[in-house]
Amino acid sequence: MSARTEVWPADDPAAIARAAEVLRRGGLVAFPTETVYGLGADALDAEAVRRIFAAKGRPADNPLIVHVAAPEQARALARAVPPAAETLMSLWPGPLTLVLPRAAVVPDVTTAGQDTVAVRIPAHPAALALLRACGRPVAAPSANRSGRPSPTTAEHVRADLDGVVDVILDGGPCAVGLESTVVDVTRATPMVLRAGGLSLEALRAAVGAVDVLSGQDHEAMSRSPGLRHRHYAPRARVVLVAPGQAAALGGEAVAVMSRSPRPPGFVGRWRRMPADLEGYAQALFGALRELDAPGVETIVVEAVPEVGLGRAIADRLRRAAEG
Ligand code: TXA
Ligand code: MG
Repeated sequence: MSARTEVWPADDPAAIARAAEVLRRGGLVAFPTETVYGLGADALDAEAVRRIFAAKGRPADNPLIVHVAAPEQARALARAVPPAAETLMSLWPGPLTLVLPRAAVVPDVTTAGQDTVAVRIPAHPAALALLRACGRPVAAPSANRSGRPSPTTAEHVRADLDGVVDVILDGGPCAVGLESTVVDVTRATPMVLRAGGLSLEALRAAVGAVDVLSGQDHEAMSRSPGLRHRHYAPRARVVLVAPGQAAALGGEAVAVMSRSPRPPGFVGRWRRMPADLEGYAQALFGALRELDAPGVETIVVEAVPEVGLGRAIADRLRRAAEG
């Protein structure tokens, strides 16, 4: 649709109103959420949603998350809302996506033909303002080209989608930095399909028992098509090592991500990551983009502890290494 991408400030009410109009006319708007930037289109307009897939180069069998401003809007997209879903909705707005039985109003292209629909209420004030002004549910995957790290700044979005998206709302860096946690609430026990910005510990505290999708569970894997696709893949090779092991692996074409300081005499780039996992998550995708620079052949990443947000961080690092 657009020859040129406009960048508007996300805290400007006039910009929000105009961006909402672009969405209502079937256009594409990239907007900040608390997790990562999303590439939005009217979720109930099949033509508009097709443009998302084209802009990202996204495989048509990978369903989108539908963003809404209020729980009533989420209920209207679902055939039924199981009790666990009602409970988990109390954690909205936030980095949590619920997979619900799909109502007939949601077009096939949005859910990639699945009988379920993924829904969330984002916590970013600009995202909420846009959703309210637009008045429609907005389908939005992460606003990166397929296979690139998710964007956590407007600059990242522009680097991937300039000229392809109509408008980018610039809300500065995302606070969480990792995508939402995706939970299937259509089963007897809720199941995490994708670790994300809301920890397993927080989910269990809210709803009790929660399963975690295992790579061995083929039936469940087939219901989360996103997991089959290549993800978070920098151009350089990513190698995961234990904490403390990167120091010995220096070289001209090497870049390291570590929570420790650069050792004296180390050859190559050394990106010191925040020690706390919240800070690490926030910096992760930007660091991967930055280190994936010309001349860097290998990015060596020291593993993080798999507790709290560490599970989602470790998941993204593993996928980057598999890329
Ligand atoms: O934080 C986020 O979730 C961001 C922001 C923009 O909200 N969005 C995001 O979207 O990460 P995306 O498309 O990059 O990831 C969506 C994930 C994929 O793994 C997809 O397979 C899964 O959600 N998903 C979507 N609909 C589903 C469904 N009906 N059943 C199972 N998984 C679904
Ligand atoms: Mg994505």
